[in-house]
Amino acid sequence: MNKALIKTLIQVSGLSKHFGGLPALAQVSFSAARGKVTALIGPNGAGKTTLLNCLSGVIRPDGGEILFEGENIAGLAAHKVARLGISRTFQNLRIFPRLSVLDNVLCGLTVQAETSLLEALLRPPALRHRERRLKLTAMEALDTFGLADKAGWPAGALPYGDKKRVEMARAFVSQPVLTLLDEPVAGLNPEETARVAALIRQMRLYGKTMVLVEHDMELVMGVSDRVVVLDGGSRIAAGTPDEVRTNPLVLEAYLGRMSVTA
Ligand SMILES: Nc1ncnc2c1ncn2[C@@H]1O[C@H](COP(=O)(O)OP(=O)(O)O)[C@@H](O)[C@H]1O
Ligand SMILES: [Mg+2]
Repeated sequence: MNKALIKTLIQVSGLSKHFGGLPALAQVSFSAARGKVTALIGPNGAGKTTLLNCLSGVIRPDGGEILFEGENIAGLAAHKVARLGISRTFQNLRIFPRLSVLDNVLCGLTVQAETSLLEALLRPPALRHRERRLKLTAMEALDTFGLADKAGWPAGALPYGDKKRVEMARAFVSQPVLTLLDEPVAGLNPEETARVAALIRQMRLYGKTMVLVEHDMELVMGVSDRVVVLDGGSRIAAGTPDEVRTNPLVLEAYLGRMSVTA
């Protein structure tokens, strides 16, 4: 079967991960549909980042299955997961501060650009042509993410909000099949937050599939098709934003910790 026809892009079942005997994920199951935004929410320490780390191959789960386009990728190394078309951003920014904004985004294309050492040394016309094409692609992504005028800046010199968008541009530049966003608006002011929300909506309109971890409930409720709630490493609820917002279990998990009224 053509993989692109599989509607459930990612199907996680019974995923577990322990750190020193303490469960960070306990038998978590959820799925994400192609072309949709699936949000993962939950109080601090719920296991959201651990789940994204398992999905992207940053850490190995202890047990369970992660079916991506029907293939089990649980335990696969990060570079192999990336090659299958799963990209991500990080809760704590991971950009190269001394590299230019353009070069940071070009890094997102290295998954595709397999250049041999000999080619790199000789720089034949075909390679130069490919480099030009990659640069054009990266510039287009910078334009989409509102960073074209800062392409030559060292990424470290950008304001925080711009840095977050550099990571997003890098995550989307390779035309990924699935993108994992770990708290894309954390630390951003309302204006920057609205900008990122608009970009997420734009990517969704382009047909991109996203799994979004976020604390900002207004953002989650505004851009997500489906919300999965984790608490203490377990899934406690899942449904449409409206269903989750009014679920007593969710309200209880958040009570005193955060407002779900947005
Ligand atoms: N590398 C690690 N080593 C030890 N404990 C960890 C590690 N990563 C996460 N944890 C623990 O796992 C739990 C879930 O963390 P995390 O996935 O970061 O939660 P969230 O992203 O939902 O805030 C927490 O109790 C955290 O302390
Ligand atoms: Mg986290």
